[in-house]
Amino acid sequence: VDLVSFAHGLPKAELHLHLEGTLEPELKFALAARNGIDLAEKTVEEVRATYDFTDLTSFLAVYYPAMRVLVTPDDFHDLAWAYLQRAHAQGVVHAEMFFDPQAHTSRGVPFDDVIAGYRRAVVRAERELGVSAELIMCFLRDFSAEYAMATLMDAVRYKSWIVGVGLDSDERDHPPAKFAEVFARARQEGFLLTMHCDIDQVGSIDNIRSVLNQIEVDRIDHGTNIVEDPSLVALAKERGLGFTTCPVSNSFVTEQMKSDEIVALLREGVKVTINSDDPAYFGAYVGDNYVALAEEAGLAASDLVQLAINSFEASWLTPARRAAYV
Ligand code: HPA
Ligand code: ZN
Repeated sequence: VDLVSFAHGLPKAELHLHLEGTLEPELKFALAARNGIDLAEKTVEEVRATYDFTDLTSFLAVYYPAMRVLVTPDDFHDLAWAYLQRAHAQGVVHAEMFFDPQAHTSRGVPFDDVIAGYRRAVVRAERELGVSAELIMCFLRDFSAEYAMATLMDAVRYKSWIVGVGLDSDERDHPPAKFAEVFARARQEGFLLTMHCDIDQVGSIDNIRSVLNQIEVDRIDHGTNIVEDPSLVALAKERGLGFTTCPVSNSFVTEQMKSDEIVALLREGVKVTINSDDPAYFGAYVGDNYVALAEEAGLAASDLVQLAINSFEASWLTPARRAAYV
């Protein structure tokens, strides 16, 4: 079989996916019409023409404003359901999906409406696609620690619907330590922990050291520049820590896929995984990311199989459910 069929056909878990980053222009127009919202762009092509990213900041400047078409529980359901169908078509049998409640509560949408819609899509995916799905709630690191703590208190009421918490948005000037207390409380409440350590942002290797040693996360999002410090790599390997990397996203926000770092971690036996991040904006769902990395780094079929195995081993499936896949 050809590379695309093989990569898409491999059963896999997706562990680094922002639901708000799956908003395709077509759905954006449909939701805008449904909610009576005027958009500046009038065609899909005009929307795509704004996807001219040079770094994380320029991506986020397009990503957040687009969310104003998301208003009702149905909107959040439709967004997640569209993603789950697309992911399923590229071999995803388990998805752990980030969502950004503060991107909605900060503009007046109730937390309860966001989670109600997303939860409905999770239940539907299990029933209609046989895809198991979980939600990971992310705090926006450019908002205050107090606002994050208040959002955590909202989430506590929905504990059984949220497997863990993460941290995303702009890392510059917002290091992990800013949220140490919030993450300690989240741990106490029973949530698993992950965090974006974005490559090429200031002080990032120090941020990786701090999330490993102080916050003691269960996983790291991006973070492949850990290869700069072999002692940290050894520590991550010893702990069996997963890394969720996003090659095509990397090529947009850093101008390279970081395939050298990803492959170095793979060869080292670290549980590195391949994911899509914001597939509607970067034009690649998870299977496409396997293909892109394989082509750039000349990976063998056995490497892709190992990456898919890693996706289950780094997942937050219970051991009993994980055993169904690996
Ligand atoms: N990085 C940081 N924050 C984000 C991203 C990302 O790629 N996508 C959505 N929020
Ligand atoms: Zn991300």
